[in-house]
Amino acid sequence: MSYSLKNFLDLADLSVEAIRDLLALSDHLQRKPEPRVLAGKILGLVFMNPSLRTLASFQSGMARLGGNTFVITPGQGTWELETRLGVRMDGAAAEHVREGLPTLASYCDAVGVRSFAEGHDLAKDLADEKFRTMTQLMKKPVINLESAINHPCQALADWKTLDDLLVAPQSKFVLSWVNHPRALPLAVPAATVHMAALRGHEVVVLRPDGYALPDPVMEKARKAATLSGGSITETSDRATALKGAQVLYAKEWGATSPYGDSDHDQALRHNLQDWQVDESWFNTAASTAHFMHCLPVRRNVAVADQVLDGPRSAVLRESHNRLVVQMAVLHRLLA
Ligand code: CP
Repeated sequence: MSYSLKNFLDLADLSVEAIRDLLALSDHLQRKPEPRVLAGKILGLVFMNPSLRTLASFQSGMARLGGNTFVITPGQGTWELETRLGVRMDGAAAEHVREGLPTLASYCDAVGVRSFAEGHDLAKDLADEKFRTMTQLMKKPVINLESAINHPCQALADWKTLDDLLVAPQSKFVLSWVNHPRALPLAVPAATVHMAALRGHEVVVLRPDGYALPDPVMEKARKAATLSGGSITETSDRATALKGAQVLYAKEWGATSPYGDSDHDQALRHNLQDWQVDESWFNTAASTAHFMHCLPVRRNVAVADQVLDGPRSAVLRESHNRLVVQMAVLHRLLA
């Protein structure tokens, strides 16, 4: 059975069967390419924030299926777009998303939107307010290219990577905070912990004090674990977390208590320089343990060269799988 999609906003919107259908279709498209299946279809891509993988993989995937794309990066060759409602527009933005986005949607068959967290108001970011406001303006299928609190394309690619590597669903999956020069959004850790729980893993969130994932993120993952038979725990004890781990997924994110206080966050992370993954992190992990990261990554800040360049690293497979799974998403949305 195949499952058509109306939007691709959150892996939690899909049944496990629908996720498996996308993964099977991505394998099928690798074996039997369909270079004309989206002929005449156009995907609009709106990037409110920078990208390397998401931008290039959607353009490449659409072209490999016979379709076309246009890319809008507001303020860089196109008008800067205002996203706030009810403001007097006497600043840099020449156009409001209320006109700009419906206009763009009228030129294409589906729209992908990237809009990161603002990082000030946790409730607003958890509710994905800005992203939802923007996507509701468009009467076309929408793809989440990373919003304040979600990155479903990355989560789907990571699920495929775990399948490719034959990682058993019941095995221990550690999502660990790692250091970075500044606070980054919660989208990838939130999507990753949910994906790993839904796949059935024994998930451990390893993070220093002050960086606990917010309750709604953990609650959503717990519900997924209940469905799959997996589990979720959280700790700041590295030795306990990593013992027997089959996967170490590293990610950087900002302090959550308090959230949005960059001075406090800077002071905290200044003393956390040892939260950089090196080979010693795998001393008590499974001998076949894999290392994952969504990229981009700061070498020798978040992760040591020896790990990224070593045999455990799955980061390039994860990047390539972005292309592969997104082609399946485009196929189910548009074919
Ligand atoms: N992982 C990821 O989304 O990469 P980009 O930010 O480069 O798109």
